Amino acid sequence: MTRLAINAPDSLELLPALQLCSDPRRLGQHDEYFINFSRTRTLTPFGMLLAAAELDRLRRSNNGAQISVGNYGHMGYGAHMGFFQAFGTSIGKAPGEALGSKNYLPITIFRTDALIRSAAISGREVGDEIESECKRMAETLIGQGEGDVFDAFAYSMREIMRNVIEHARADSVHICSQYWPTKGRAEVAILDCGIGLRDSIKSNPHIDASDDRKAIHYALMPAVSGKAFKGAPAQRGARQWKNSGFGLYMTSRLCRNGGNFFIASGEKGVLLTAGTGGKRVFDTSFSGTAIRMTIRTDQIANLKDALTKYREEGFEIQKKYQEIVSIDPSSASLMLSHDFNLSTWDRLRSRFKTS
Ligand SMILES: Nc1ncnc2c1ncn2[C@@H]1O[C@H](COP(=O)(O)OP(=O)(O)OP(=O)(O)O)[C@@H](O)[C@H]1O
Ligand SMILES: [Mg+2]
Repeated sequence: MTRLAINAPDSLELLPALQLCSDPRRLGQHDEYFINFSRTRTLTPFGMLLAAAELDRLRRSNNGAQISVGNYGHMGYGAHMGFFQAFGTSIGKAPGEALGSKNYLPITIFRTDALIRSAAISGREVGDEIESECKRMAETLIGQGEGDVFDAFAYSMREIMRNVIEHARADSVHICSQYWPTKGRAEVAILDCGIGLRDSIKSNPHIDASDDRKAIHYALMPAVSGKAFKGAPAQRGARQWKNSGFGLYMTSRLCRNGGNFFIASGEKGVLLTAGTGGKRVFDTSFSGTAIRMTIRTDQIANLKDALTKYREEGFEIQKKYQEIVSIDPSSASLMLSHDFNLSTWDRLRSRFKTS
């Protein structure tokens, strides 16, 4: 019997959490992995979700090896949120067990087949089923079922969850969130261990998604999709839930309005913040797609107006985009860096015209 001891990082904030993601084979095959949490202080919804998914992957990829933990007594918040049970220990509450209340949503795991089945039983589209779940979660989180903040949460959760069902080929969707009303800020983390953006978006023959960085950049652009493109098979189902390549673009723009949007898939993670220079790319290694939305709730005005504006700009970008996308695949990267400032396109186009 072999046992490997691992020291968990000081915090489960974005960067240390990303560093935890690595090929489990690197740690070698053992019967037991002992995780020492003595140093770990700051827990975040995204960090907990990512760490739990990676530890669970470690367990599964080693024939159900045991994961044991030590020095976790100070981590009552994590235990309550379902963190420890999410990777197979018996400590604290199970995912989804804490009822959730105003201001937080514990780690909650939805089985994708259960969502699809329950939609079929009630004769609804799975998009409608997801929308109801997201409204319920948004109401739990902010303590009310209407208003601009509620709409923004329900909308962004719905778009990211829909993507998992529609593109990821994953068994489950994992979600966790915390809302700090006095700071006017919330974090929503959603991940899946599915095929990842690159494998999904590469069905679109008009773009070059040959690596994870390019795939993420393209997926964040308006009207770029692995399902909706010139020559794609017709999509079935209600018009409302047909793919048009707007989900990630719209939610990321909503978050960039005072907050930020982070997405990791495969070997890369991309962080989008407001304004020029608002894009950073990180190395990681996550088999699937993990998203962290940081939402400034005090910046949310009328959601409908904001979405209408982003959608209109999206169509405008799409028109310009078609002119240059085949010439320069890095245009997507540049556009993202500039928070979709439309003048960037004019500069790009004049560059191509003169060269
Ligand atoms: N969780 C995921 N797993 C795998 N691929 C994904 C995931 N989320 C998004 N993608 C890929 O990124 C593309 C862009 O996603 P986005 O949500 O912007 O558009 P869409 O889902 O195609 O259309 P819409 O959101 O307008 O219905 C998707 O078409 C898909 O190829
Ligand atoms: Mg989508």
